[in-house]
Amino acid sequence: MALSVLILAAGKGTRMNSNSPKVLHHVGNIPMIYYSINLAIKAKAKNIGIVISKDATEIKNFIKSLSINIKLFVQSNQLGTGHAILSAKEFETKSEDLIILYGDCPLITVDTIKKLINTKKKGADLSVLGFLSNNQKEYGRMVVDKNNNLSKIIEYKDADKNEKNIKFCNSGVIISKAKILFSLLNQISNNNSAEEFYLTDIVSLANKQGLIVKSVYCNEAEAQGVNNRQDLSEVELEFQKNKRLEILDNGVTLKDPSSVYFSYDTEIDQDSIVEPNVIFGPGVKIKKNVLIKSFSYLEGCQVDPNVVIGPFARIRPQTVLEHGVKVGNFVEIKQSTLSQNVKVNHLSYVGDGKIGKNSNIGAGTIFCNYDGNKKYNINISSNTFVGSNVSLVAPLEIGESVTIGAGSTITDDISDKELAIGRARQINKRKK
Ligand code: UD1
Ligand code: CA
Repeated sequence: MALSVLILAAGKGTRMNSNSPKVLHHVGNIPMIYYSINLAIKAKAKNIGIVISKDATEIKNFIKSLSINIKLFVQSNQLGTGHAILSAKEFETKSEDLIILYGDCPLITVDTIKKLINTKKKGADLSVLGFLSNNQKEYGRMVVDKNNNLSKIIEYKDADKNEKNIKFCNSGVIISKAKILFSLLNQISNNNSAEEFYLTDIVSLANKQGLIVKSVYCNEAEAQGVNNRQDLSEVELEFQKNKRLEILDNGVTLKDPSSVYFSYDTEIDQDSIVEPNVIFGPGVKIKKNVLIKSFSYLEGCQVDPNVVIGPFARIRPQTVLEHGVKVGNFVEIKQSTLSQNVKVNHLSYVGDGKIGKNSNIGAGTIFCNYDGNKKYNINISSNTFVGSNVSLVAPLEIGESVTIGAGSTITDDISDKELAIGRARQINKRKK
């Protein structure tokens, strides 16, 4: 059966008080709409569509960057969630079953979606995902009987005092046969306080027509939507909680999980240890038995087994740290490969470099990779020793088993097994 997923993302997101579209605000260091797309993929959707507004160039560019086959639909005027779906008419014929997701609800899991799909298999014509909440957020309120039959959804803005106190809230996720969904949507009006065409109105319409409408529960944290910055911070926190559990379950030790922050794609293998206050930006892959000490910040890097990083290390994109490497305190590494057992233990900057096996970079070594205009590379071969406080002025080729004297400024290439010293000779004079 062809399942399609349509993600609504054309809303104005005014409550975010931002120049960027709401669904591009980050959760786990990636625009939140990524999670709805990923959920559609995990649910094995044959077709994925996204409804965007007409001036959504930034959203378009982000979706393009994912290289996933996604059909974009434009909703010219934001007349409500029901109206948004009608802009994707093509999905009426393209799909048998259709799931509606919102682009601002990033934490819903595939297990929950499977529950929703099951109610449909068991005969529901329409099924809606809800959650119990004690708060007074502006969620639609769901009226159900004890068999989970859903009779109507009342939008918060239109609810009276009693209805506002209903604890069962609409997550926004709906499944139905596409034909039924579109036929119901063609019958809704905008006769409500927001003068919008509410998707939620199809529930009472379906009931009037004798269709079976069911509801499914998930927990509140999972269904949390983002309407303002406070919601965004709550969703981020929930994402971090989930990701920490995933990493712990992988067999990684986190000494103080709540102080470690991950990205959507962070991978850490078994028996690695992360000390408190470490940040993982996007694109970090850590292999097994790695020790990351406190206050380190890692982005876009590959870290092989038995590496030790930090404390206070900064590892920047396109860095590879091979087996047994040690990167110590106040060291920054950018776009460089450190081969097996290389040590850069103190106060150094390594940028656009390659360092061969077993080489040692002394305290305070600086790769001068930028001349104010262009960037250049430095290659150091294996078993080389760079003394403390050395400036390596790129471009440079430095051979194997080289020794560079402390305090040198190196501007010329060095051949294998040479000793290089580039500093003024010391003069001692008697004082007058
Ligand atoms: C909606 C639901 C509400 C539910 C809540 C869950 C309706 C009428 N209300 O309210 O019952 O509890 O989500 O989070 O459905 N959008 C469009 N075009 C539009 C309007 C909205 O594409 O014209 C998109 C938005 O980009 C967003 C989603 O639909 O991704 C939901 O819209 P939003 O305005 O945030 O709805 P809520 O007020 O949160
Ligand atoms: Ca919302």
